[in-house]
Amino acid sequence: MPVSRSVLVTGGNRGIGLAIARAFAEAGDRVAVTYRSGEPPEGLLGVKCDITDSEQVEQAFKEIEAAQGPVEVLVANAGITRDTLLLRMSEEDFSSVLDTNLTGTFRVVKRATKGMLRARKGRVVLISSVVGLLGSAGQANYAASKAGLVGFARSVARELGSRNITCNVVAPGFVDTDMTAVLSEDRRAEIVSQVPLGRYASPAEIASAVRFLSSDEAAYITGAVIPVDGGLGMGH
Ligand SMILES: NC(=O)c1ccc[n+]([C@@H]2O[C@H](COP(=O)([O-])OP(=O)(O)OC[C@H]3O[C@@H](n4cnc5c(N)ncnc54)[C@H](OP(=O)(O)O)[C@@H]3O)[C@@H](O)[C@H]2O)c1
Repeated sequence: MPVSRSVLVTGGNRGIGLAIARAFAEAGDRVAVTYRSGEPPEGLLGVKCDITDSEQVEQAFKEIEAAQGPVEVLVANAGITRDTLLLRMSEEDFSSVLDTNLTGTFRVVKRATKGMLRARKGRVVLISSVVGLLGSAGQANYAASKAGLVGFARSVARELGSRNITCNVVAPGFVDTDMTAVLSEDRRAEIVSQVPLGRYASPAEIASAVRFLSSDEAAYITGAVIPVDGGLGMGH
């Protein structure tokens, strides 16, 4: 019988995050998800939290700790896009994406590792993107934030490895969610034509890699970047 762990998935109320949260819950873990508006999904502990606000992050962790114990597995998944070409990209377009995707991840990882250091164990998985290493026209802000996660994860892996805390990155390719639903049919077809497996991923396929990196089987993997991209980013 596997041990039930206290898990937090940021942005676990929909899309890839929800698939990750459900996968942990199905395996018997106690799972909290952050959400910003509306209702949290049934069967999961919903904590209201905008990761651009340190106070809200602190409050969310207090609620989670009281309800299901200190976070043992953190999945930093929340992220946004604000796509536009470089010459049209405002400083606000750039900094808001960095503030959510990179600094937001820093805020939750910093807070979660406090408890993990005390417990002398923990798992951190950051959701990056194939675009972080491949680059993407119209996504300079997003790609910069996702590439930043790699350097961040590897630094955390070096700092906290001796305390039995692993920190890894999952880099999905194109996944069917609200984030990609905004792309035109032409753009979708163009993307699929470049993916060796010839299709988008399902959110559950990303969740499988995250669950593996958080499992006992992955105890000796840290600082890794695992692509789940149908071969799109091969060579990076
Ligand atoms: N879809 C893809 O093809 C793809 C590919 C590679 C990587 N990714 C990455 O995978 C992650 C999930 O993407 P997705 O496709 O599932 O996106 P999505 O459907 O747009 O969902 C984004 C999630 O992030 C949350 N979020 C955004 N800003 C937040 C903030 N400031 N504070 C707290 N939560 C916030 C959203 O919460 P609300 O419901 O409150 O808005 C939502 O739960 C992202 O990091 C994305 O960059 C996605």
